[in-house]
Amino acid sequence: MKILAYERVEDPVLEQLNRAHDVRFFKNINPKTDPDFLQFLHQADGIIGLGLEVDKPLLDQAPHLKIISNVSVGYNNLPIDELTKRKIMATNTPGVLTDTVADLVFGLILSTARRIPELDRFVKAGKWVELVDSTYYGVDVHHKTLGIIGMGRIGSAIAQRAYAGFHMNIVYHSRTKKPQAEKDFSAVHLSLEELLSVSDFVCLITPLTKETERMIGKKEFARMKKSAIFINASRGQTIIEQDLIDALTEGTIAGAGLDVFEKEPIDPDNPLLRMDNVVTLPHMGSSTYETELHMSKLAAENLLAGLAGKKPKNLINPEVWENEQHEKG
Ligand code: GLV
Repeated sequence: MKILAYERVEDPVLEQLNRAHDVRFFKNINPKTDPDFLQFLHQADGIIGLGLEVDKPLLDQAPHLKIISNVSVGYNNLPIDELTKRKIMATNTPGVLTDTVADLVFGLILSTARRIPELDRFVKAGKWVELVDSTYYGVDVHHKTLGIIGMGRIGSAIAQRAYAGFHMNIVYHSRTKKPQAEKDFSAVHLSLEELLSVSDFVCLITPLTKETERMIGKKEFARMKKSAIFINASRGQTIIEQDLIDALTEGTIAGAGLDVFEKEPIDPDNPLLRMDNVVTLPHMGSSTYETELHMSKLAAENLLAGLAGKKPKNLINPEVWENEQHEKG
């Protein structure tokens, strides 16, 4: 089989795939114009990788494609309805990254509240020459209120850390109530407006969908406490980034910890990069050695199952597989 690997598949997994299949790995290319990529795409039976923006023109150039296996839990890069129409399976990697992302979100909460990166720069610059005063104080995390928008697997893992480790009050907003989280972490379901107005930390961890796109903007920042710290570990497009920049500039909120941005990699002249009360990361939520390997392995399992005519474990559009079984009779 011909397998097109894109941007991020860990080496041991690429080697494993290579032993039985014809694999080509593409990185740092423009998938719309790269001639080698487009030529291989034309023959590819399967795609495995991270963040390939798939659209109709790309699919028109992939007549043999049976499956696209994302090495990520998010799949906003895939037009699921269009793939289903074309009988192409789509898979993702939920579960294996939950704790890793929750750890990083906590890192962002602590870094922003206690100003860790800023104070690290201060010490390394040789500016620590006398006892520090209140100019350098942070704010407490423990016993504060954490508002989680999107109480799925990762949201719950964040709530667990916050509740058990930091004695925080948990409030959350999601489409459906989560009885388990209410039982385990005394989490309270609130409307978005209520959550924004009572939270000390507002943590956005929802998937990017048509409903969540640009869900946090000027109006939402205005509802937050002046002392609020905003954390985004979902996708850059779930917020209106210019409104966040304005909110931080005007002192509408106190700070932000961001793993994701409207444009990635971020432009070097983005004003967020010049703000000491903003902690930035290069979209690294799941990026530990262990978890990236787990994700690549799971994505390869999904891919190989699909190519072998078996049902992949993390199939997003099961209709494709079911229809195929039906047709086979
Ligand atoms: C990371 O952002 C993922 O969706 O796995």
